[in-house]
Amino acid sequence: MRKEIAVISGDGIGPEITAQAIKVLDKIAHKFQHNFIYHQVLAGGCAIDATGSCLPKESLEICLKSDSVLLGAVGGPKWDNQPSSNRPETALLQIRKELGLFANIRPAQLLPQLKDASPLKSSILDKGIDFVVVRELIGGIYFGEHRTREQNGELLATDIMAYTQSQIHRIAKVAFEIARKRRKNVISVDKANVLDSSRLWRKVVEEVAAQYPDVSLSHMYVDNAAMQICKDPSQFDVILTENMFGDILSDEASMITGTIGTIPSSSLGEGTLGLYEPIHGSAPDIANQDKANPIGMILSAALMLDYSFGMKAESQAIQKAVEKILDAGYRTGDMMDAHSKLVGTQAMGTLISEAL
Ligand code: IPM
Ligand code: MG
Repeated sequence: MRKEIAVISGDGIGPEITAQAIKVLDKIAHKFQHNFIYHQVLAGGCAIDATGSCLPKESLEICLKSDSVLLGAVGGPKWDNQPSSNRPETALLQIRKELGLFANIRPAQLLPQLKDASPLKSSILDKGIDFVVVRELIGGIYFGEHRTREQNGELLATDIMAYTQSQIHRIAKVAFEIARKRRKNVISVDKANVLDSSRLWRKVVEEVAAQYPDVSLSHMYVDNAAMQICKDPSQFDVILTENMFGDILSDEASMITGTIGTIPSSSLGEGTLGLYEPIHGSAPDIANQDKANPIGMILSAALMLDYSFGMKAESQAIQKAVEKILDAGYRTGDMMDAHSKLVGTQAMGTLISEAL
């Protein structure tokens, strides 16, 4: 198959880790006789440096025309003083919005090889961690009006958290469909004891649940959910939540599995065009030092093969290769424990592609 892939390497460790994902994809292309064509796309801080704009028009056009988008990471302290409309993160939000990617799926799974890297006690880990966070991605407080103005002689800033029924309905459906293929349990996370947007969320989620009698639904307040994720993560199968709660909880969920460095994510809309990125950020403090963990990026490429291209066997081959290298004891710094072998970003990418 011939597939056009928009590659946004981005900032910080982004270029180093996307290079490893491409190394692995090239191996897959060779092995399974596909033709992957990569289009390097400027977005984020590097785009500001090169063109003045965090997302040049042409970059967005290439993403829209491609079969999928692979993204490393964007942002860094260098661009902290940019106006909010031209921050590196704004590029990412615009891409999500313009591509209609309303569903962000972030798995949290404990790989047995990384148990020692988890901050949780083994009495908790022994019950297993295997859940997915289904995060609404183009609504809520991220996309409501942001305003800073003067009132009574001081500055006042507001960010509006808004959801329509249809926005909630379509993401709830995604969560229930995923749950149906798993352990058939959805926990919807909100703050319905305080927020109107959460009360509407609950109402619509219950309406959708009625169409899935085989899937059980319960509700949890977000503060309690944050606590339960570290107290007993085994209780979760599918967490359904709005944009900002999902942003926060998915970082927590990734950390308990050992390291944020190994967790991929997919952002999907109505069609097959998706955006795939590791859930960690650009980690400017370790950029260009060959220290970053490329596994979250490599597994994001694996998700792309499966969800956007329908290449299940190819995707599983990558997953297996990663597990094999972890089994053999290779680790980047973030995953290190006393008995492992420390390798850098490039060596990790090479090991995984050679394991294919
Ligand atoms: C993420 C990131 C982004 C988000 C930032 C970079 C805008 O934290 O993908 O989780 O908040 O969505
Ligand atoms: Mg985040």
